[in-house]
Amino acid sequence: MGLDNKGIRLIFIFVLHPFLFTLPKCNSSFTPLVNYLLDCGSSHPTQLTDGRTFKSDRETTSLLATAEDVQISLDSNLSSSVPSSLLPLYQTARLFQEESTYSFYISKTGRLWVRLYFFPLSNPSYNLTAAVFSVQTNHHVLLHEFSVRNSDSPVFKEYLVNVSDSRFSLKFKPMKNSFAFINAIEVVSAPDNLISDSAIALSPLREFKGLLLSAFEVSYRINVGGPTITPGDDALARTWETDGSYNIFPQGSETLSVSKKSIKYPHTGVTPLIAPNLVYASVVHMKDAKVMRPNFNLSWMVNVERSYSYLIRMHFCDILSKSLNQLYFNVYINGIEGVSALNLSSQTKALATAFYQDFVLNALNITNGSILVQVGPTNLQQGTVDAILNGIEVMKISNIADSLDGFFSVDGKYKGPSSITTEMKILVYVGLVLAVTAMLLLVMICMRWKKRPQGWEKHSRFSSWLLPVHSPRLCSSKSSWRGSTASSSHKSTKHGKRFFPFSEMREATNNFDETRVIGVGGFGKVYLGTLKDGTKVAIKRGSGNSEQGINEFRTELEMLSKLRHRHLVSLMGFCDENSEMVLVYEYMANGPFRSHLYGFDLPCLSWKKRLEICIGAARGLHYLHTGAAQSITHRDVKTTNILLDENYIAKVSDFGLSKAVPEKAQVSTAVKGSFGYLDPEYYRSQQLTQKSDIYSFGVVLFEVLCARPVICPTRPTEEINLAEWAKKQHRRGVLNEEIDPHIAATMNLQSQSVFVQISERCLADCGVDRPSMGDVLWHLEYALRLEEAASRIDEPEDKSTSIVTNEDNSVLFSEIDNLEER
Ligand SMILES: *[C@@H]1O[C@H](CO)[C@@H](O)[C@H](O)[C@H]1NC(C)=O
Ligand SMILES: *[C@@H]1O[C@H](CO)[C@@H](O)[C@H](O)[C@H]1NC(C)=O
Ligand SMILES: *[C@@H]1O[C@H](CO)[C@@H](O)[C@H](O)[C@H]1NC(C)=O
Ligand SMILES: *[C@@H]1O[C@H](CO)[C@@H](O)[C@H](O)[C@H]1NC(C)=O
Ligand SMILES: *[C@@H]1O[C@H](CO)[C@@H](O)[C@H](O)[C@H]1NC(C)=O
Ligand SMILES: *[C@@H]1O[C@H](CO)[C@@H](O)[C@H](O)[C@H]1NC(C)=O
Ligand SMILES: *[C@@H]1O[C@H](CO)[C@@H](O)[C@H](O)[C@H]1NC(C)=O
Repeated sequence: MGLDNKGIRLIFIFVLHPFLFTLPKCNSSFTPLVNYLLDCGSSHPTQLTDGRTFKSDRETTSLLATAEDVQISLDSNLSSSVPSSLLPLYQTARLFQEESTYSFYISKTGRLWVRLYFFPLSNPSYNLTAAVFSVQTNHHVLLHEFSVRNSDSPVFKEYLVNVSDSRFSLKFKPMKNSFAFINAIEVVSAPDNLISDSAIALSPLREFKGLLLSAFEVSYRINVGGPTITPGDDALARTWETDGSYNIFPQGSETLSVSKKSIKYPHTGVTPLIAPNLVYASVVHMKDAKVMRPNFNLSWMVNVERSYSYLIRMHFCDILSKSLNQLYFNVYINGIEGVSALNLSSQTKALATAFYQDFVLNALNITNGSILVQVGPTNLQQGTVDAILNGIEVMKISNIADSLDGFFSVDGKYKGPSSITTEMKILVYVGLVLAVTAMLLLVMICMRWKKRPQGWEKHSRFSSWLLPVHSPRLCSSKSSWRGSTASSSHKSTKHGKRFFPFSEMREATNNFDETRVIGVGGFGKVYLGTLKDGTKVAIKRGSGNSEQGINEFRTELEMLSKLRHRHLVSLMGFCDENSEMVLVYEYMANGPFRSHLYGFDLPCLSWKKRLEICIGAARGLHYLHTGAAQSITHRDVKTTNILLDENYIAKVSDFGLSKAVPEKAQVSTAVKGSFGYLDPEYYRSQQLTQKSDIYSFGVVLFEVLCARPVICPTRPTEEINLAEWAKKQHRRGVLNEEIDPHIAATMNLQSQSVFVQISERCLADCGVDRPSMGDVLWHLEYALRLEEAASRIDEPEDKSTSIVTNEDNSVLFSEIDNLEER
């Protein structure tokens, strides 16, 4: 009996708590499968106080291929700032006169730590401070023409590389007439999930992908508010320094620490391998946040190399608050807001729980060689005024030459900004192009001069000179510009586009009054204008100094001159006087679709209305893809580019990035678009196809269903990107949880199912698996039919679709399946 009972209980536990058996017993330890520790130049193994044993030269001869090497050692112990436990490693060195390579057999591919220890020991025959050499792996340059100039302080370099071959080599290449040396080497496995593929990219704020392909050099690893952590206290043998010398506002800081035992790790993501509990058990927060000054930021500054992008990992743990939902603060990096009102409670669901966030700072945003990390109070009227930071890691990301030092790749080729010789070549080309352009212009000016209109002096137009050179298609409208004068400038062109004088634009917008700004795009600000006859218009004024602006202006004018459709925003005219670039559109009274979904207190749109809007936008895009004389890919499909007129009719806008791409063809081009909507396949391959629009439209559809931003950096990592999260939730069968609660209860489930099905297909990884816009349109119309039938609204049959609603689902769904086969 007793035995039976136990058996049953065991089974019970197994069924109810399968994770009890899969949880690692002690996840604070890590056994590296690859573990090469070499004390170079040493005649005997060296055991450190942290328990690790570094092998002697004799034990590692099989790893090294070298023509000639020399062992050097120091008799007296050196005194220096490095942790004393590491000092023995610096006592001996190995010196290479020729190129020499250590080859390591890698039993488990993936991330590896490569740690190099250098100290220029004094020696009668060799001056180690004069050694100049490079160090590289199979794929990455770690050090380029490196030397240790300061004979007093050791140099420690730490790298994280991703190894996919079974052999990993470390090559020391002395400069001509010089030599290389090394005191100790570590090549050790690191957990693969230590650095994930994505992070938050700053300015513009978006998701950054591709970290898996990069190599890193650890520049700083700081235990903010806490003690130095030595390799013995870190499961991955890392060293963490104190933050004192980096804190640039110590007067405002206060440190606080708790017992490291009280730190909890959530079950997913953050483990003691990410950072030991000692990091999370100490914190710097705002001293007298309320009293001293109502508002300041805690700031830490580190010096970095300018031409590299950096991965910045910030560690947080709320050991301060007495209860949840008390602490909110902003996070800035180099003055750019990385997270607004970071809500640790929602991330960790508990106090004293570890959390970290990765950011990528682009090299272009490092203007004076430093990274400034700041945390500061929000202006939320909630919680306490405070901000915290527990740890910072700053890692240099390998550059385009796969180098972490300079712009030379492993094969010695220069891949950086153009060198003098290529610059000279470019100069020659530029000269040629300029000469040809000048001649063309001269010819044109002569021709124009002969045909100049009356009153031509009053205009100094920008595009009338520029556009014809680059876009012959506009020549037809140019002919009518010639006829226009300042007074009769409202003459229609062939395309029905008017020319507006700048003075009228100025008048219509009350001299470009900032209060009339209704939108801001990549190309410039959009103002609400009122023409003399009372017509309301949207006036987009380009910021003319950027090349991007000029290109977008040109593209938009060119595209919209050719396009006319009920679901595309129509261009009423333009103005190109005084090198101003102004486009005048019909005014869309209800603004961008997004504002009606979230973020603004506008009345909630019903599911039916949302479907109608999606259908309108889909029709517009379908026309772009197939209806126009040339197939056009929009390239920036998003909810802010779908505008609604006073009757909530959707119109697609913003053709500044559009490109003519023949159907089923692909065009190689620089990646442009908006993050969160950008087709990952296009991003990877740089090949633009119509299917990139389909992907973006799929994201729009999920945004409409879930009513949340497509990139939401304050959410937990896997939820940041809506497209990926929605796909994941759909696969798990719990997409319902994500649906906008305003509509979830009332929407027809069949309609929802058809909608979700097509939205998900739009997000297929490969473009060829995605439906065409026509297909999407069909499904959306079908979803609308189902919704209408369910709400028993009888509307006249739309001729463009011929679906009869049917109560029998199975028949309907098999119809859909048949359609999918097409
Ligand atoms: C150097 O330091 C080690 C311990 O780190 C010690 O055992 C040894 O005696 C010292 N050698 C000299 C010459 O001071
Ligand atoms: C290493 O890089 C390869 C691609 O080259 C990638 O597939 C793999 O996931 C990476 N592994 C790790 C652990 O980063
Ligand atoms: C070693 O080389 C460095 C750099 O070239 C030089 O400054 C230093 O004087 C040299 N030391 C000796 C002892 O020759
Ligand atoms: C904190 O720093 C950011 C960026 O440097 C700045 O925009 C913000 O105004 C600062 N906050 C306070 C309270 O000083
Ligand atoms: C922070 O997150 C918690 C839990 O998700 C939530 O209840 C709270 O409203 C959030 N606070 C703010 C200001 O968003
Ligand atoms: C960061 O760099 C990008 C790219 O050059 C630029 O567009 C952006 O304005 C920069 N942001 C800041 C805050 O300097
Ligand atoms: C970088 O610029 C900021 C102000 O823009 C200044 O406070 C800081 O000292 C500068 N850092 C360096 C290293 O020059």
